[in-house]
Amino acid sequence: MPRPLLDLAPDAIATAARRVMSRCDDLAAISSMDGGIERVYLSPEHARVNRIAADWMREVGLAPRQDAAGNQLGRVDGRDPDAPVLMLGSHLDTVPDAGRYDGIAGVLMAIEVVRLLAREIPSFPFGVEVVAFSDEEGARFGKALLGSSAVAGAWDPAWWELADQDGVTLRQAFLEFGLDPSRIAEAARRPDELAGYLEAHIEQGPRLDRAGESLAVVSSIASARRFQLAVHGEARHAGGTPYDARRDALIGASEAVVAVERICRAQHHVIGTVGQLEAFPGAVNIVPGEARFTLDLRGEFDGTRDAAWTTIAAELDEIAGRRGLRWEARELHTAGAVMCAPTLMDVVRAGIEEGTGQRVAPSLFSPAGHDAMSIGRIADVGMLFLRNRDGISHHPDESVAVEDVARGIRALAEAVAHLADERSR
Ligand code: GLV
Ligand code: MN
Ligand code: MN
Repeated sequence: MPRPLLDLAPDAIATAARRVMSRCDDLAAISSMDGGIERVYLSPEHARVNRIAADWMREVGLAPRQDAAGNQLGRVDGRDPDAPVLMLGSHLDTVPDAGRYDGIAGVLMAIEVVRLLAREIPSFPFGVEVVAFSDEEGARFGKALLGSSAVAGAWDPAWWELADQDGVTLRQAFLEFGLDPSRIAEAARRPDELAGYLEAHIEQGPRLDRAGESLAVVSSIASARRFQLAVHGEARHAGGTPYDARRDALIGASEAVVAVERICRAQHHVIGTVGQLEAFPGAVNIVPGEARFTLDLRGEFDGTRDAAWTTIAAELDEIAGRRGLRWEARELHTAGAVMCAPTLMDVVRAGIEEGTGQRVAPSLFSPAGHDAMSIGRIADVGMLFLRNRDGISHHPDESVAVEDVARGIRALAEAVAHLADERSR
């Protein structure tokens, strides 16, 4: 087996992994939800975790700054201050009632990698920038990857009018957070500023756990589309309205929910989820006149994802026609599948195999979305997955073993060193 490039003390790595775990606990306490974790974009909790992350960045020699989209960054130069930077990071926002590692572990591991490489980085052919993206989940405005889209220069001005559930628009939320919407373009990075982007993330699925492996190289990230759907019927008396006179929107929506599962299960690597469903006016004795639901659709390839949507839409037409209903859909989020760059897959593989002695690093496609999807528009991206127990994620029981975090830190540090070695030649 080739020898690792780095001679890192096992104690230092174990300490780093323990620090990541205890800092994940610290950040879990910064939440807007009683008894659970919730930290959404442009909230007071977002501001607090950015300030804390900035302190942790400063402590390892990174110069911190918050960008025009509320992403927290920290930079350290390589041998040439004008050279592009290798970005390392993930996100600090969460879904409602979240776990404590999704995104957060990747940011904290990146900070530890900078700490471990403090002596090496000044001779690297690139600088290193740790990034804590501000909105990966899209939990507040429905549109995911807002923070990394700003960095990728892919901000759509139509997003300013997106509103949260209290009717606060994205524009207002920017102003309340102390950011200036007219300066959003300043968050964008040029492709020639970046030497690549590497992200460590928990797998959020059970494949590594079932295989008894701790780390994997990510090959690609699923394409995604998110929709808000509404089915319209007629609200009528629950007792007096015979079945043949009903236009029950909730029954129509329920048939559609079941169809989503049937259609997606029949396709290879396409996954559809209805995560929200509401009936209106919403009373025990009224036939629902309207039902609203969300659809999260993912596929390994854009084509299979889109084919599933076409079939779901045809099924909705059929249900609506049969039941005297009308339906409409608003697309909230669209992201194409992203292939990880072969060169970065190679350094991540070398990081795992040489850094941790894991014999053959498995390679996995990611059905979960990641900030790397946006950054893939302007730079080569690579990802490292960590086993998480039973694959439970987006749930308070999300967990990762400190030993796997240690292996992940080791592998990520080694991957960065391999890239520096390769680019120095
Ligand atoms: C993000 O976690 C997503 O894939 O929804
Ligand atoms: Mn997530
Ligand atoms: Mn995530």
